Amino acid sequence: MPPFFFLSALLLPKSCYFLVCIFTVQILTFCIFAENFNAMSDKMIFTPTKYQLQTVATGRVFDDQGWTLDDKQCDKPSMVRPVYEKKQLQVKEGRCWGLYRYADWLPIKTMLANPSEPVTYKSEGLANRLGLRNLYITFNGYWPERNARMTTCSFKEMEAFSVCARLGEELKDKVLVVASAGNTARAFAKVCSDNGIKLLLCVPQDNINALWFDKPLNDCVKLITTESGSDYFDAINLSNVVCEMEGYLAEGGAKNIARRDGMGTTMMSATTFIGRTPDFYFQAVGSGTGAIAAWEANLRFVEDGRFGTNKARLMVSQNKPFLPMYEAWRADSRALLPYDADQARKDAAEICAPVLSNRKPPYGLAGGLFDALKDTHGDILAVSNTEANAAKALFEETEGIDIYHAAAVATASLQQAIEKEVVKADDVVMLNITGGGEKRFQADHEMYYLKPNHIFKIDFTKEEVERVLTAMR
Ligand SMILES: Cc1ncc(COP(=O)(O)O)c(C=O)c1O
Repeated sequence: MPPFFFLSALLLPKSCYFLVCIFTVQILTFCIFAENFNAMSDKMIFTPTKYQLQTVATGRVFDDQGWTLDDKQCDKPSMVRPVYEKKQLQVKEGRCWGLYRYADWLPIKTMLANPSEPVTYKSEGLANRLGLRNLYITFNGYWPERNARMTTCSFKEMEAFSVCARLGEELKDKVLVVASAGNTARAFAKVCSDNGIKLLLCVPQDNINALWFDKPLNDCVKLITTESGSDYFDAINLSNVVCEMEGYLAEGGAKNIARRDGMGTTMMSATTFIGRTPDFYFQAVGSGTGAIAAWEANLRFVEDGRFGTNKARLMVSQNKPFLPMYEAWRADSRALLPYDADQARKDAAEICAPVLSNRKPPYGLAGGLFDALKDTHGDILAVSNTEANAAKALFEETEGIDIYHAAAVATASLQQAIEKEVVKADDVVMLNITGGGEKRFQADHEMYYLKPNHIFKIDFTKEEVERVLTAMR
């Protein structure tokens, strides 16, 4: 409302104040109605895209039962993938769709409130410094000047908005269970809290500092932790026990098609912005799910036919010394090599990007990261903490925003590929900045931390878990 309206109102006789107030209320009501009407009409015209599932190992096509994670008729480990009826992606234009602008290629039944999305732009600062003419940055995080509004600051928000929108009415009474070491938990907590979806987070106690938010969370979000000294795997074990109980629903991780296609929106954002699929895709990986998702989205673009036939070479990176997939890839092995659990814990404790420390990634199964790298002539690179820290500083200096260490690992891997002349000056490169803007976001907002409802010892029993959760519901 223009300020002169209020100022000129002050010049009127006192007897007119009442009329002015009524007039103002009417204008405000109209503005709020118009805003809501826009959002409501967007919702009303949303029709979920039809799809079937296809088992990568066998090619069998079948219907999704609502939350299908595997093909029960397939005896080999394999991903299942959605085959969407709409082969050509129609990106929805407008301001409030968020990632749902790519709904044609998302297995969702509804759209949730406050959706964010990845933002792609052509780099100048970092590109000039690296000597690249076609560097495209897909930014996932908080950077209002670039219209990036992920308030949990990582691409895990894309998983959460997609997975939670896959929940049909028949599953609404269940409690969604998510195990995470940090960013995923924060993303699911925000999305579920904003949308009244019941969620139980299982997080190692030492990671709960990652559970910061810009407002207190709705009571539908609960947190249980494994005691200090435990790691992500202990939290996963706890979530597995919970999921055996009536009324709880395992989110499913990489096997959840909504998780992968939600992350695939990064490739959808980049390809539709550039007008073609990139030559190279750079991302730091823990599970590799984001890179598998980018590959799957790329395959859909090839089928779409309007963005070329190119498959972006997946250049994924791990953080030294935690390198299970790097070692297997170097040995040309589909299976991960033996990795002593204690050594893995020790290595995970040393890396500057702990979110990259997944000990059981979906690497060797059909449609997993090994297949994705073979199909795209990709590679896995290893980045030290020193290289990552230097890349983090370089990114902030040249692009003007802070990024997570994981994203810095990806940036450092791009520097390596340029040094080795794998990437040339004219190549079209997509750098997936998987998280950033946290420093910026926290400076702009007051922070609230989620407290655990219960802390379990590492040697918890099933009976104890059942007793605690029954009391909590
Ligand atoms: C910021 C960030 N980047 C990259 C990754 C790695 O993603 P993925 O597990 O899909 O490989 C994660 C995982 O948590 C993350 O939080």
